[in-house]
Amino acid sequence: MQNLDFYREAFESYLKASTAAKEPLGLYEPMAYILGLGGKRLRPSLTLLTSELFGGDFHSALDAALAVEIFHNFSLVHDDIMDDAPLRRGKTTVHEKWDINTGILSGDVMLIRAYQCLESYKGDIFKELLKLFSRTAVEVCEGQQYDVDFENRNDVTITEYLKMITFKTAVLIAAAMKMGAIIAKASKEDSANIYEFGRNLGIAFQLQDDYLDTFGDPETFGKRIGGDIVENKKTFLYLKSLALAEESDARELEGLFTQTPTDPTEKIERTREIYMSSGAAQHARDEIQNYTTNAFKILDEMQVSENNKKAFKQIGEKLMQRKV
Ligand code: IPE
Ligand code: IPE
Ligand code: MG
Ligand code: MG
Ligand code: MG
Repeated sequence: MQNLDFYREAFESYLKASTAAKEPLGLYEPMAYILGLGGKRLRPSLTLLTSELFGGDFHSALDAALAVEIFHNFSLVHDDIMDDAPLRRGKTTVHEKWDINTGILSGDVMLIRAYQCLESYKGDIFKELLKLFSRTAVEVCEGQQYDVDFENRNDVTITEYLKMITFKTAVLIAAAMKMGAIIAKASKEDSANIYEFGRNLGIAFQLQDDYLDTFGDPETFGKRIGGDIVENKKTFLYLKSLALAEESDARELEGLFTQTPTDPTEKIERTREIYMSSGAAQHARDEIQNYTTNAFKILDEMQVSENNKKAFKQIGEKLMQRKV
């Protein structure tokens, strides 16, 4: 097994060879654009890495990795429409560069392309991959719907929030890893464990994404800072602030999240202050650590070499420190 960078580079060349723009350009150019903007390539790299963790050859997992990354990018194109986001990976979002209809249809064709990538698998492996991929895709849609529903609700609980981020984000990271395990013909138990590892890491990942959305560096994060506040997203930071802040701050925060001012600068500034003074920001950091530790505990129970465990733990540690 090599390190994650090795698999990212291998994936990058495979992706380039598979996704050149063709006619009609209105459909395929946005797809080539979003996929060409890069990003961390976390999920496909994890698919390749996991296939080798369980004794497979990563080349056999390249098409599954491609399916996962194209699906992820499809979800981003539609998510940016839903979140009215201007920036993605430091560049203009697809629906702003073109228009919303283009974002919808290019997104649709990417979703279909993702499924086509799985056509290279045969027999039981194909069936298992397809089942997992479809179940995951349905869950991502459910998570996205909860996320939107929560914008207009003022009684969201932290339990509901955790379910929402599990669906919209964590299950795809978990499935990316399990697909690698399936291709390597890992045992049912190993496949289930690596899924749980990925699910916990994925929850930590989305908590971190929410944290960076508010407190990240605009130079590195590549998305509009404060976007979740503008869109009244009921994140961990928001929900925990309501629970912990002084009564007057909590009521003020609730009030702020019923408003959509044309210039959101003050709303963002004041919300950040409450997130920090309430202690919610620190709690979010702790929770990111907790879910990462949960993931590590699952790994510790698995029958894989210490060196390989170390490699997976390094990924978890790095994700907690990420700025991108
Ligand atoms: C962004 O995912 C969407 C979330 C689930 C938070 P990434 O942070 O993995 O985005 P890229 O692919 O690296 O740009
Ligand atoms: C994204 O959640 C989840 C999916 C795209 C399915 P976010 O809306 O928080 O992701 P970003 O912050 O736009 O990347
Ligand atoms: Mg978004
Ligand atoms: Mg969203
Ligand atoms: Mg986000």
